Amino acid sequence: MPMNKLEKIKEGSKVEFLPILSDECERVLLDIMKNEKPKEILEIGTCVGYSSTKMLLASDAHIDTIEIDENRRNEAIEVWKEYNVYDRVTSYLGDVNDILTNVVKDKVYDFIFIDGPKSRYLEHLKIVMPHIRKDGIILADDVLFFGLVNGDEWVPHKHRTIVTHLREFMKYIKSCDELDVKIIDEGNGIAVMRRK
Ligand SMILES: C[S@@+](CC[C@H](N)C(=O)[O-])C[C@H]1O[C@@H](n2cnc3c(N)ncnc32)[C@H](O)[C@@H]1O
Repeated sequence: MPMNKLEKIKEGSKVEFLPILSDECERVLLDIMKNEKPKEILEIGTCVGYSSTKMLLASDAHIDTIEIDENRRNEAIEVWKEYNVYDRVTSYLGDVNDILTNVVKDKVYDFIFIDGPKSRYLEHLKIVMPHIRKDGIILADDVLFFGLVNGDEWVPHKHRTIVTHLREFMKYIKSCDELDVKIIDEGNGIAVMRRK
């Protein structure tokens, strides 16, 4: 059977590097769509629209999604149109570090997917925390970063900044009174945080 567009993106991402979510994270996302039935979603890191399209097809939610790369955002628009979900997307083109506060202003989300620049996860979490409803879920992908985040072992120079920031992020979420946290040690590590 010929592959559909989403299958092609997923397969293609393995051959030509494109940072699409892992199969493990996709399963967790789809479980959340099924069990939590979110109506308002925020995503940091659109890429070419793979995860957002999957979430929209599995729910009747609206999504705000942020991407810095114009080519990727344009490709995402084509994907949303092809799957007839574009009317449920508000796509923001820009640097999340500059625009996040404005995007979330006056908004309350049922589900937030943090999947943008990993060195900034903690800052982004702190900005979005007041905007997740009680019992809503915030999910952050890749938090264990190839097994380098747990423990204190030596980290190659090229990964040191990301790993240092992710260690701070993990320390923060584990001690945060406002969150119930579950770490799924699959893929590159998935943090599922439920707002108390
Ligand atoms: C892991 S990918 C997102 C994958 C997507 N959620 C999916 O699974 O289909 C991360 C994305 O964040 C984008 N990104 C990186 N830094 C950013 C920034 N400062 N502002 C906005 N987007 C950024 C990258 O261009 C990349 O497309």
